Amino acid sequence: MNIKSLISDRVHQALIVLGAPFDGNVQVCQSTKSKFGDYQVNSVMSVAKKISISPRQLAEQVLRFLSLDDIARKVEIAGPGFINIFLKRTWLASRIDLALNSKKLGITVVQPQTIIIDYSAPNVAKEMHVGHLRSTIIGDASARTLEFLGHNVIRANHVGDWGTQFGMLIAYLEKIQNENADNIGLSDLERYYRQAKKQYDENEKFASRARSYVVKLQGGDLYCKKVWNKLVSITMRQNQLIYNLLNVTLTEGDVMGESIYNVMLPKIIDDLKTKGIAMESEGAIVVYLDEFKNKAGKPMGVIIQKKDGGYLYATTDIACAKYRYEILGANRMLYYTDSRQHQHLLQVWAIVRKAGYVPDTLPLEHHWFGMILGKDGKPFKTRTGETVKLSNLLDEAIQRAYKLITKKKSNIPIEEMTQVARIIGIGALKYADLSKNRTTDYVFDWDKILAFEGNTALYMQYAYTRIVSIFKRAGIDAVNLTLPLVINEEYEIALALRLLQFEEAITTVACEGTPHVMCKYLYDLAGLFSKFYENCQIINANSEIIRQSRLKLALLTSRTIKTGLYTLGIETIEVM
Ligand code: ARG
Repeated sequence: MNIKSLISDRVHQALIVLGAPFDGNVQVCQSTKSKFGDYQVNSVMSVAKKISISPRQLAEQVLRFLSLDDIARKVEIAGPGFINIFLKRTWLASRIDLALNSKKLGITVVQPQTIIIDYSAPNVAKEMHVGHLRSTIIGDASARTLEFLGHNVIRANHVGDWGTQFGMLIAYLEKIQNENADNIGLSDLERYYRQAKKQYDENEKFASRARSYVVKLQGGDLYCKKVWNKLVSITMRQNQLIYNLLNVTLTEGDVMGESIYNVMLPKIIDDLKTKGIAMESEGAIVVYLDEFKNKAGKPMGVIIQKKDGGYLYATTDIACAKYRYEILGANRMLYYTDSRQHQHLLQVWAIVRKAGYVPDTLPLEHHWFGMILGKDGKPFKTRTGETVKLSNLLDEAIQRAYKLITKKKSNIPIEEMTQVARIIGIGALKYADLSKNRTTDYVFDWDKILAFEGNTALYMQYAYTRIVSIFKRAGIDAVNLTLPLVINEEYEIALALRLLQFEEAITTVACEGTPHVMCKYLYDLAGLFSKFYENCQIINANSEIIRQSRLKLALLTSRTIKTGLYTLGIETIEVM
């Protein structure tokens, strides 16, 4: 249940009864201080402005028609016209019981949408590097979150598997007579690619062969297709190992590379020309967009076909958006790429909307992100100045976690150490990234990433095991908690309220693709649990009903942490 939406709807109804003009959403927020209640409504003020009456007066009228008796113990007007809402404890308690009895912690069932999430998107014949981390894990958190809410999520791994470089690679493999070898790894491909590029630049005969292979590949030549397939599968097999290690839900079935749109491109060019959207300019086909200006202040031209007939990254993305709408039936499309691709996407979307390939009402959203920086404030590199390979980064995370847990006196059985090191190391790495607002750059620092204190994965995983152990130590089974929940103490109330705000957090992540909101929520929740735990006796409570009530609060806390971490793609462990 979403308390914010519930209050917002009720205020909206009151405004309708009053006949006040209001079309947007009623703004409701969690109060920042307890003297302002639990929630605060502030949009009455903007409505009052429109109809020129004093906000306080309007707030008073709203209050006459606002029905919140079932959930609130007190509703009052404050300041110039805020409405403060104090929730009933009995209502909070009953909602906690409902959440405990629900599979999805009591969240509202949504109208399912088909949502395409474009993320990860590495390039073929290149190893994934640190630059792919954010798209992969933020995109995956978004996919998990939307799926958890009941949406039909289509994961689209827009792999860079098409382009002139494949002509070079095929020609090079042929030259070294290695096209049939089956022990080639991704790092070999990367080396071949460098060598092929060199040949291409230095040797005209090789270059023309490479170019002819591009044409052949595009024309569906069997030999070229076979070698190309091999390049793709070598790459994606290796990337899949990274996804598995990262606990990312992408599978080989989610690969929807650039190549699949190739067949659509000639028709799209024709269609855009016919519609008068694209035109020829100096031999190339260009779309001029009034909404983007070039340096001279003229409409910016986006090339969609080169002079030599070749297509571009933008052309593929036009086809791709069309495909996602027409064939996949998207209701919403999200793109996780870094901020440098923002202009590119806006241009593509302007074209697909102009052409009527995607309706104006269908949300196309770029959930862009900033960069990972080294301690020197420059893009994160290895000590020798090279790009950090993702596989090396993950290995280091696991090794560091292993050291950490073997050094600490922990209860983890020896045979589970490796597995636990993976969960902790990878969890820490992911959480450190996901807990930052994605729009900002951040500095990569192992010491902060693998810390037990602060808003870190270790802190959250530890908080989880601590609650689990309360139940274990006391030998309590959740099914035996049958008494109705009561809450009285300040610490219980604060914890209960926060538990019931899970849906508000997850809904924000679903709308905005901002997993840091979930991290922040979980961190607050764990903090409130600590306070509750320090101040309220659980096992030794004064009465059975209080004991059970507190156990229930603890139980819902552990489930909420586990579920919240699950939506982030972070695993929990039962003992630490
Ligand atoms: N492969 C691209 C890159 O590495 C990212 C693709 C993003 N998705 C898209 N539809 N353009 O930069």
